[in-house]
Amino acid sequence: MKKIKKRKILVTCALPYANGLIHLGHIMEHIQADIWVRFHRMLNNKIWFICSGDTHGTAIMLKCKKEKIKPKIYVKKIIKEQKDIFLKFNISHDNYYSTHTKEHLYYVNKLFLILKKKKLINKKTIYQWFDSKFNIFLPDRLVLGTCPICRSNKQYGDNCESCGSVYSALDLIKPISVLSNTKPILKNSVHLFFNLPYFTNMLKNWTASDVLQKTVYNKIKEWLLKGLKEWDISRDAPYFGFKIPFYTNKYFYVWFDAPIGYISSFKNLCDKNKNINFKKFWVKSSNYELYHFIGKDIIYFHSLFWPAVLHGCDFKKPTKIFAHGYVLFNGCKMSKSRGVNITAKNWLKYFDSDSLRYYYASKLSNGIEDIDINIKQFINKINSDLLNKIVNLASRSAKIINVRFNSFLSTKIEDIDLYNYFLKISNNIIYNFNKLNFNIVISEIIELANLANKYINDKKPWTYKEKFYFDNKIHRIFSMGINFFKIIMTCLKPITPILAQNSEIFLKISLLWENINQPLLNHKISIYKNLYQKINENIKYNF
Ligand code: MSP
Ligand code: ZN
Repeated sequence: MKKIKKRKILVTCALPYANGLIHLGHIMEHIQADIWVRFHRMLNNKIWFICSGDTHGTAIMLKCKKEKIKPKIYVKKIIKEQKDIFLKFNISHDNYYSTHTKEHLYYVNKLFLILKKKKLINKKTIYQWFDSKFNIFLPDRLVLGTCPICRSNKQYGDNCESCGSVYSALDLIKPISVLSNTKPILKNSVHLFFNLPYFTNMLKNWTASDVLQKTVYNKIKEWLLKGLKEWDISRDAPYFGFKIPFYTNKYFYVWFDAPIGYISSFKNLCDKNKNINFKKFWVKSSNYELYHFIGKDIIYFHSLFWPAVLHGCDFKKPTKIFAHGYVLFNGCKMSKSRGVNITAKNWLKYFDSDSLRYYYASKLSNGIEDIDINIKQFINKINSDLLNKIVNLASRSAKIINVRFNSFLSTKIEDIDLYNYFLKISNNIIYNFNKLNFNIVISEIIELANLANKYINDKKPWTYKEKFYFDNKIHRIFSMGINFFKIIMTCLKPITPILAQNSEIFLKISLLWENINQPLLNHKISIYKNLYQKINENIKYNF
């Protein structure tokens, strides 16, 4: 048999800001990545899944000032909470680290110094709004004013939510500091800029090389056409972050340091697991693969800044960037600052983790469309798909096998054509997992479940007058039911790990891709116990 070379893959999710709890939007990204990772683990590829809490920036600094707590201590506590909640959703990170660590400091400095040595960092004097009461330069999100284009009030310093224009904070009419409610003054300061335009050609070629989804690529082409600008990577004190070497009171802008978290978290993992070759991974010629899962709001950073920084430092660039849309709740965006904020922790007070994983999978495609959570639809889908179609297939078949056949399955396959059809569809499912078409995976799984239930219904085994002797028709029909269930659960394993684990105990096997086409014959299963709890349709929830 030809030996298939195992791929070596690093997968990341965007680093959640360490200024609040994980909400249903963040969780969607990690569920999407986790399903893909578990799928590749089942294919026996070498795959590492890492992330970190993103700890730096003005928002965290101001929050800590207000709550009179040291930022270092605060972010440590938040990261622990983030880690705990990801575990409760069975997100199988190999490492969940922090950007306020020695490894991170080392790599941020290292990459910056390489870029500086290559003369890709320039100094420039710029003007910014300054709050004299708080003694701080105001980031765009902390100045409100009238939009210079459409004149609507209370718009942020970087873009207008009313007319969609993007502008410089200096053009805002009647600016007001969000911190002190006073009028800010204009003040100058020297900033450091990364020479992004230098990479224009490289980025044009790289973004055209199938590393982005089509719709994302079209957006990027527009940005490239407009022309890239130098990128301001420094911030003045007071700031919570790392100091820039050789400059006094200048800090790395959080968005310069955050993506380097992919490197530092991986380094920390390699230090704990000596079997992974860190150096070999990041060299330009590396044949390892690197995938970033991100939301559509941070495409610019990941498809332009980040690859340019990596390229400038002679590091490996991403193999692919997978962007997704927003999670909405009844049409409203899930967000910490605006819209609704349902924390993942609160969600778990009412529902189990597999159900949300299944529901998201049924709505996730390879595109960047938003995903709306509707509780009624959620409960219906779980009860009708997972319970009535899939778990019911196991329970109705097991009852007869357990009681009449001492839990042994038949020695023959009753309908080999239908069985082969299941295997054919399971191949499509593998293809669609890999392409991130999880919605198609689910609809194919449900097609199989419907077929399996129809098969048993059509055969009407309960009408048979035969005695229950081994390998008769009744035995073979219900054994088919169990074998169909096994194929379905193998396909569902990356999506619903708890249900899969319970099914493995019930079937007394490990569900593996490599075993998918070997039917269970003359095999003893366990006595059936309920595999999954139905959701109460009248559940009262208060997020
Ligand atoms: N810290 C940055 C990422 C740095 S990566 C080098 C950040 N943090 S975040 O907490 O705001 O968002 C983390 C991820 O969650 C992003 O990919 C973001 O798009 C995603 N989501 C945040 N809200 C979301 C929804 N409502 N829906 C889906 N994903 C969303 O950005
Ligand atoms: Zn406007």
